[in-house]
Amino acid sequence: MKTNVALSPSVTKNMPTHVGLVMDGNGRWAKQRGLSRIEGHQRGAERLRDIVKICPELGVQFLTAFAFSTENWKRGDEEVNGLVDLFRKYIGSESRELVEKGIKIKFIGNRTAFDQSLVDQMCQLELASHSNDKLVLTIAINYGGRDEIVKMAQAVATQALAGHLNVEQIDESVLNKHSFTHYMPDPELIIRTSGETRISNFLLWQVAYSEIVFDDVLWPEFTPERFKEHVVNFEHKIRRFGSITMKV
Ligand code: IPE
Ligand code: IPE
Ligand code: MG
Repeated sequence: MKTNVALSPSVTKNMPTHVGLVMDGNGRWAKQRGLSRIEGHQRGAERLRDIVKICPELGVQFLTAFAFSTENWKRGDEEVNGLVDLFRKYIGSESRELVEKGIKIKFIGNRTAFDQSLVDQMCQLELASHSNDKLVLTIAINYGGRDEIVKMAQAVATQALAGHLNVEQIDESVLNKHSFTHYMPDPELIIRTSGETRISNFLLWQVAYSEIVFDDVLWPEFTPERFKEHVVNFEHKIRRFGSITMKV
């Protein structure tokens, strides 16, 4: 019987090594305060900075943050342009500290949609932080889980057509090698803020056995303490992976 590559190697430990964040609620937070949506996103970006800092001490080695989905283009020019400007500023202002703190930064998603200067900034930061090992921070930007699965299928089909792969050889591990997240284990824990109880196209391939926590807090109010609570609570989860043997 084939082993399921989607399982994290850390199942025998009780702490999550990879946490995914769906940072939702910036708009509602801003509206409640009579602020613009962009001001909500600005505050949201600051929250991510706080969470990143405490990951190493909690044993979280991989943090994947959903910043912009393939569907978020529907929001109209003002918000989309504001968000793109914010990414630019965030990368500009945070790069040095992130690199100095030993954090490795990766971006997943379709970056061809962005202008060359932003793409260059992203590549430079990935390069500058390449050998860091305190935490791998992955920012999902213009990311969609379905888009990723299409790309995985295309890559595998290309290999098969070129004669490098037989159809019978295609299994989960072959597909997984072509996922955007091939360099890390699947997330054991996903946290979505703002009370919405959906996954909204985030890491569809990878969440097969993730624990998913829906927190009512709006993202700009999400604190490192709250994050820690969810990480610590994970310890009590009983993960069976389809079996009847209880694994904690
Ligand atoms: C999440 O906050 C950030 C992005 C999707 C870019 P929202 O902007 O979706 O906030 P709400 O859901 O409207 O409150
Ligand atoms: C999910 O939030 C995407 C990000 C947090 C980047 P959305 O606000 O886009 O999700 P929906 O539209 O409520 O499902
Ligand atoms: Mg939202």
